[in-house]
Amino acid sequence: MDVNDRRILVTGALGQIGSELVPALRARVGPARVVASDIRMPRPDSPLSEGLFEHVDCTELRQIQDLVRRHDIGAIYHLAGVLSAVGEDWPHVAWDVNMGGLYRILEVARQNRCVLFFPSSIGAFGPTTPRERTPQDTLQRPQTIYGITKVAGELLCDYYARRFGVDTRGLRLPGIISYVAPPGGGTTDYAVEIFHHAIRYRRYTCFLRADTRLDMMYMPDTLRAIIALMEAEPVRLHHRNAFNVTAMSITPAELPQAIRRHVPEFVIDYRIDPVRQAIADSWPRSLDDSAARAQWGWAPAYDLEAMTADMLERLAERLGNEL
Ligand code: SER
Repeated sequence: MDVNDRRILVTGALGQIGSELVPALRARVGPARVVASDIRMPRPDSPLSEGLFEHVDCTELRQIQDLVRRHDIGAIYHLAGVLSAVGEDWPHVAWDVNMGGLYRILEVARQNRCVLFFPSSIGAFGPTTPRERTPQDTLQRPQTIYGITKVAGELLCDYYARRFGVDTRGLRLPGIISYVAPPGGGTTDYAVEIFHHAIRYRRYTCFLRADTRLDMMYMPDTLRAIIALMEAEPVRLHHRNAFNVTAMSITPAELPQAIRRHVPEFVIDYRIDPVRQAIADSWPRSLDDSAARAQWGWAPAYDLEAMTADMLERLAERLGNEL
């Protein structure tokens, strides 16, 4: 993608994905070309406090407009958003942040000719969607406010592409497993928490049923997917918002088996959270990501075994614990 010398803006930069996407982009295009932004301020010890950082509320059009013009932004990775479980606690906040934020970002992108990355989700599907190998193009009738904002967001991004020629691209991301920053209140968070608890306490109480199958992806694959999609030749993209992507389809019963190969004494038990269980039960059990594979060469590098080994080693080092 031709973004010339214009800078890149990442919103929600202190979140789970932003904390790692910003350093990855800085390594790729140079630190001076990536502006991180968030509604929170980075802690002094955060790597993000070293580079360009702007305090911004994405629901405030003038703040975004000012930032984009001041830094000559040519590409926006709009990661600021409320996740599924928190969204059910605060539906009006989820709507304001997810829809209000995206709409304003799209308007600024249109006015300043920026390209845009939008993260959609497995949450954009609902109970009437085929649940096994969910197709790229299928029924999308989600029942969470999070999912509603993701479907509406996909449609709005496609509208801006068709109507105004804004180069918008998106991924339907599964649960993301990572060790740098925690996820901010999603239904798939168990798959991150379980590693912290395995290392610290050798046991974990899971809030989803043992047989709840959901798609997951390790962060290095997520970063590669985002960057590959944004660098793909536009003529190859028959879809835009948003591509199904996945790396593994796993249950809370299968993850401990992989962890026990490294931490043999690890045990899991279950105390079901009815809200998050109902959300998970309405989502796909596995996605068909063949459109992403065909149109821009998507292929994950980490399966369950490879992710578990790397995650345990790196998280233990980060926490200063023995495995
Ligand atoms: N990880 C997200 C959530 O659980 C799904 O996109 O809300």
